[in-house]
Amino acid sequence: VSLLQKMSRLAREELRHFEQVLKVIADRGLSYETVSASRYAQGLHANIRRTEPGRLVDTLVVGALIEARSCERFAKLAPRLDAQLAEFYGSLLKSEARHFEDYLRLAEQYSNGTEVDARLNYFRDVEGALIESPDTDFRFHSGTPSLVA
Ligand SMILES: [Fe+2]
Repeated sequence: VSLLQKMSRLAREELRHFEQVLKVIADRGLSYETVSASRYAQGLHANIRRTEPGRLVDTLVVGALIEARSCERFAKLAPRLDAQLAEFYGSLLKSEARHFEDYLRLAEQYSNGTEVDARLNYFRDVEGALIESPDTDFRFHSGTPSLVA
């Protein structure tokens, strides 16, 4: 399966999840609020190499890491939620685990030798700093919450 087909399928799945989330929000009488991109995602993207083919490999590696972290967070949150949300988060968790593997496999396909390992190590350090440092935004993906003065 080509990169374009794989990514198109993945995008469709993410959009379906988005629609499912909208439904949960509506069913619970909540309102949708727009939020800016998290510092976590911005910080990772800022470290993506600017020229091809490195740019593609890095984009895929960053995608893999974000999916892996999402998977971990859904796993942590699911047992603390009501049955309906827990089941939904459980289904998202399975998708994220699959997306993580998809991104990683594509990164390996479009790189050479040990490049993916090297970039994974690099981005693991970048994200470690982003996750462990105080962050004024509290998001699904953010640093440790810090109170705004
Ligand atoms: Fe995903």
